[in-house]
Amino acid sequence: MPLYHKLGKMPQKRHTVFKKEDGSLHYEQLFGTIGFDGMSSLMYHLHRPTQVKEVGKSLDIAPRAAVAHNIKSRLLKGFDIRPENDYLDSRKTLLFNSDVHVGLAAPKNSMTDYFYKNTDADELLFIHKGSGTLKTMLGEIPFEYGDYLLIPRGMIYQLEFDSEDNRLLITESYHPIYTPKRYRNWFGQHLEHSPYCERDFKLPQNLQTHDEKGEFMMKVKKQGQLHHLIYATHPFDIVGWDGYNFPYGFSIHNFEPITGRVHQPPPVHQTFETSAFVVCSFCPRLYDYHPQAIPAPYNHSNIDSDEVLYYVDGDFMSRKGIDQGYISLHPAGIPHGPHPGTYEASIGKKGTEELAVMVDTFKPLQLTQLALDIDDGKYYQSWLE
Ligand SMILES: [Fe+2]
Repeated sequence: MPLYHKLGKMPQKRHTVFKKEDGSLHYEQLFGTIGFDGMSSLMYHLHRPTQVKEVGKSLDIAPRAAVAHNIKSRLLKGFDIRPENDYLDSRKTLLFNSDVHVGLAAPKNSMTDYFYKNTDADELLFIHKGSGTLKTMLGEIPFEYGDYLLIPRGMIYQLEFDSEDNRLLITESYHPIYTPKRYRNWFGQHLEHSPYCERDFKLPQNLQTHDEKGEFMMKVKKQGQLHHLIYATHPFDIVGWDGYNFPYGFSIHNFEPITGRVHQPPPVHQTFETSAFVVCSFCPRLYDYHPQAIPAPYNHSNIDSDEVLYYVDGDFMSRKGIDQGYISLHPAGIPHGPHPGTYEASIGKKGTEELAVMVDTFKPLQLTQLALDIDDGKYYQSWLE
């Protein structure tokens, strides 16, 4: 996150004596990325953050390819993913490559008896249904429908849901997820042409400090394995922190669409970037206002990127037979475009209420068996006249 944030108490000078009321020292921890070159935060614990009591079982949760070389356009019925009680059990990877995993989850229960961290990847959660609180070691972020939650790798967290009706789109990125560089100046501040700015971010707040000893289960994702570690102290024992490496939220409803007289290309919808894929937000907006404009997108050959579109709400103007929670996959190598009739029907329309999240990957995606299970099987022929 290219801005500075701090919560709680800390010494005036980093790496100096910082005592508790009983005279003993707090335990400083640098939480950084990309060695010592990336964004980092300095945190102050009540207890050593290194007190592993036991290392238990390890589960292999790496996705397996049912289709490794895909050339078909696909339509996956995302809401066919069954709800499950446990958050981690409910997470289902559908599409993946060595850079990114895209999946869905319908968790019913809050996480209460364990903590989780993903050391492989930054996690970008998109909240389609449900609300609650993202609880992390650096503070809490309330979330609701339409929120992106960006959780940097290594961040210890729990999710607390307000009800059992939750639907999440989950993107795990093996490369850091940033806001697009072209939106920022050389200091990192978002520029005037950016479709959102710092004021729109939901920063961690309400830092809770737990001074508890006992047995605390931490599930750690690393190299596609889910390791089970028992820690001797509560993982949320931080009294203060500052820096740039922290989770944050951003509502898709705060993305201000950029429109024009004629059709604007997908980069105007870009919300996040990595070195291996981009994330775009398609939001309700006015259509192109040239008198002869065709608002529907032209056919396009994303010759070197797979395009994943997750349909959230509203009518999607260029597609037929789309429902909430569906995922379309348009693979690299073949062109795609509006469905027959939608191109013509879009002429003269004033606006759209569509809401969708797009993930464009620069390497081809593989499909898991679960993706095939919810694939409609005939979408690739849906442009036939
Ligand atoms: Fe497209």
